[in-house]
Amino acid sequence: MAMTIKNQAEIDKMRAAGRLVGEIHVRLAAIIAPGVTTAELDRLAADVLAEHGATSSFLGYRGYPATICTSVNDEIVHGIPGPRRLREGDIVSIDVGAILDGYHGDSAWTYPVGAVSEEAARLLRDTEAALDLAIAAARIGNRLGAVGAAVERFAIPRGFGVIREYGGHGIGRQMHEDPHVPNHGRPERGPILRPGLTLAIEPMLTTGGEATRELADGWTVVTADHSLAAHFEHTVAVGPEGGIILTERPIGVVH
Ligand code: MF3
Ligand code: CO
Repeated sequence: MAMTIKNQAEIDKMRAAGRLVGEIHVRLAAIIAPGVTTAELDRLAADVLAEHGATSSFLGYRGYPATICTSVNDEIVHGIPGPRRLREGDIVSIDVGAILDGYHGDSAWTYPVGAVSEEAARLLRDTEAALDLAIAAARIGNRLGAVGAAVERFAIPRGFGVIREYGGHGIGRQMHEDPHVPNHGRPERGPILRPGLTLAIEPMLTTGGEATRELADGWTVVTADHSLAAHFEHTVAVGPEGGIILTERPIGVVH
């Protein structure tokens, strides 16, 4: 799907969809604990979407069977919610996409379940830092390659694997629009980032290698070496000082 340029009214609609995605994350984070099933997380996300008259970006997409994606430990992305119970020490990557008023918001976050290992905590901290750097690089006038270069240059010297077989994407009326947004590359490559371009930026790092495998369910992507994986994603509009986050977590949401 082609690269689309949005006007301010469209970006405002994407911010509304994104804010709902952020609210869903806040509400999921509040119930993540040992013993909770990933299906329970999916149900809560579906309920909040319905409360707002929104729908899931993922449910039914190429036959995807759930509202959100829940990927545990060595699962990188596209884990399908089900009866699995989270355990103390797990990490769970939750990917949420919402369609509101015709526009998508898409954001993922990896959460610790109870106390996690120092290795897991460092992976989470540094994958979030890689996302922050990638967003800062999503600046009008930069080339797209600056985004992936920022991830790679931060992650590789710190000993992490960078997932190269999956990446971010343009987003708008469609969940996946051009361009593909790799988490690696060179800053002088790719199209120039222009005002009105909206991107889902989503680094995926591992504590081991970079090879992936897809499970027999046809969706779940795991690390080939079963090392831990983390995934942090925001939807942004490129701006003069870097990406403007459209999927902020609202503060002060009380339910
Ligand atoms: N955020 C993910 C992506 O950008 C979620 C896709 S899950 C799917 O690809 F089921 F919709 F494919
Ligand atoms: Co995405």
